[in-house]
Amino acid sequence: MALTDKIQQLLGEVASFVATNEAELEELRLKYLSRKGIINDLMAEFRDVPNDQKRLVGIQLNELKASIQEKFNALKQEIISHEDVDGNLDLSRTPYPIALGTRHPLSLVKNEIVDIFARLGFTVATGPEIEDDWHVFSSLNFADDHPARDMQDTFFIQSQPDIILRTHTSSVQSRVMETQKPPIRVICPGRVYRNEAISARAHCFFHQIEGLYIDKDVTFADLKQILLLFARQMFGADTKIRLRPSYFPFTEPSAEMDISCNICGGKGCSFCKHTGWVEIMGCGMVDPNVLDANGIDSKIYKGYAFGFGVERITNLKYRVSDLRLFSENDQRFLEEFTSAH
Ligand code: DAH
Repeated sequence: MALTDKIQQLLGEVASFVATNEAELEELRLKYLSRKGIINDLMAEFRDVPNDQKRLVGIQLNELKASIQEKFNALKQEIISHEDVDGNLDLSRTPYPIALGTRHPLSLVKNEIVDIFARLGFTVATGPEIEDDWHVFSSLNFADDHPARDMQDTFFIQSQPDIILRTHTSSVQSRVMETQKPPIRVICPGRVYRNEAISARAHCFFHQIEGLYIDKDVTFADLKQILLLFARQMFGADTKIRLRPSYFPFTEPSAEMDISCNICGGKGCSFCKHTGWVEIMGCGMVDPNVLDANGIDSKIYKGYAFGFGVERITNLKYRVSDLRLFSENDQRFLEEFTSAH
């Protein structure tokens, strides 16, 4: 019989191949696909096919080989699944470990911070990352010529000069005051953007948490107490805080808060530049101008506010030396953080 006829005949037979167990399957493999099998015999015959027919016969031969292999695989699959159903299923076998993801370190730390403030009665508020000038600057008492409005620091949407990427989560203060009546007690986590060159110590986006408390008879002592409590819960009961006078347009008086360096315990190390202290946040009493600009009567109400970076707190807790690690999705880095929440 000519080679092409044999191929055609076999092609017709493939569909009727049967194998109901491993042994029959192996027979099939030996007969057709092994080194001494039919396919290899045909390959040997193929060598004698005249050159002008080689192309056509070659195609048919390949087709036959592929269809036998395909049928073989299908039968194998069927036998395997049958074996499970027929009782060869080993229910005591250890399952394949399921690779669960881990929470991102910034989310872990953010959740921990939110939990601490939630226990103190703060609720979470959020606002848009694409904001207008009013909520980011004007409503927070920034002067028209304040340097933060500069293109060097802030990303502007070119076609709409009033629309920017928020540079701080303080914008959510203003959004909350618009919609809620005092007493207000909110914590506002979110992503912020600044026009910075990316390096180990700076990034064009990062994360902040803003706090705002407004009521009658709120004092600086209340602010100090809540920040001390936060620092101790976050970094340990021995943590000390100190407040240094500072300036922010939206608070008066304003302060910056340092905590005793939790890496060297306050003795001095390279992280705290041998001072024993690390700065972690800005804070102060809400400027009466801000209350009034946002529809809250500053003659009746007072408030305090604070804001800090989540990356910095995360660095203190986990000693991440390069900010870029937080956004590069390197699994080796992310897998170091097992989920606590
Ligand atoms: N918005 C400030 C910043 O991005 C942080 C800040 C300072 C927030 C003092 C506050 C505050 O609420 O009272 O650097």
